[in-house]
Amino acid sequence: MSISIPEITLNDGFSLPVVGLGTYSLRGNAGANAIKQAIDIGYRLIDSAYNYENEGTVGEAIRRSSVPRDQLIITSKLPGRYHSYEKAVLAIQESLYRADLDHYDLYLIHWPNPKQDLYVEAWQALIDAQKWGLIRSIGVSNFLPDHLERLDKETGVMPSVNQIELHPFFNQEQQRKWHEENHIVTESWSPLARAKTIQENETIKKIAEQHNKSVSQIVLRWHYQLGAVSIPKSASPTRQLENISIFDFSLDENEMNMMAELTRPDGRMNNQDPAKYEEF
Ligand SMILES: NC(=O)c1ccc[n+]([C@@H]2O[C@H](COP(=O)([O-])OP(=O)(O)OC[C@H]3O[C@@H](n4cnc5c(N)ncnc54)[C@H](OP(=O)(O)O)[C@@H]3O)[C@@H](O)[C@H]2O)c1
Repeated sequence: MSISIPEITLNDGFSLPVVGLGTYSLRGNAGANAIKQAIDIGYRLIDSAYNYENEGTVGEAIRRSSVPRDQLIITSKLPGRYHSYEKAVLAIQESLYRADLDHYDLYLIHWPNPKQDLYVEAWQALIDAQKWGLIRSIGVSNFLPDHLERLDKETGVMPSVNQIELHPFFNQEQQRKWHEENHIVTESWSPLARAKTIQENETIKKIAEQHNKSVSQIVLRWHYQLGAVSIPKSASPTRQLENISIFDFSLDENEMNMMAELTRPDGRMNNQDPAKYEEF
């Protein structure tokens, strides 16, 4: 059984399925099998990163799958230690060699690292790599409006996507609004808040019971109705299927409001505020 996932169009005309597969910690043979199995059941968007050390695993999963390469949307991300223009170009090429691919469909700058202050150079490298055919759509991750504005001002190119921490405990209302006004698609990382305390949340459990769905399905449906692309990670075929089986029901306004009340100003999981936090 394969599920068809709706798509959302980006500001460069490219489109993404509204749910993709997160792959953090999926590595090696088991990881390649888990990703292949996700592709078999309908996932087409796969999220990876240079720093997850699993671009090779993703490439292997693609080769094991019978779905043609041109139907898959493969994402990777540039690490903070390679933001200078020359290093960024080499890292993009290395990312491709690791996966044995000739292009990525979406490539993101992983973190802005504002103290290092080289993200505009990194962005220029992504713009050029796109011109050379190495990347189809270019975006960023963990960028704040100030950082995005600067990219636009200094290069004239606004990212297609910003992948940010987003879950019911940290719903990023203002950042999402800013994205919408500036035609950037929001992609939610840790969309299930890593499926820990959220599974016991009484509000979400109540909504789940009413729809006869799981807590994860309610949360992923909520992302979809916010207009965000989510990338839940699961190694389990049952949970992978559960996470894309969210297109046969909807949350009403009252339920969306109940979900909105769960957010907290300090709701980030590990206090990773992109204005201060840096990752290399
Ligand atoms: N850009 C960034 O800075 C950044 C940061 C963090 C993450 N990411 C990306 O976002 C992806 C998703 O985030 P994440 O992996 O941190 O967290 P997540 O997707 O919110 O949660 C993953 C956890 O939830 C479990 N799970 C998945 N589906 C479930 C279900 N239906 N019921 C119960 N448990 C379920 C998984 O276990 P099982 O595998 O056992 O199902 C795993 O332990 C990552 O894999 C990565 O690709 C990006």
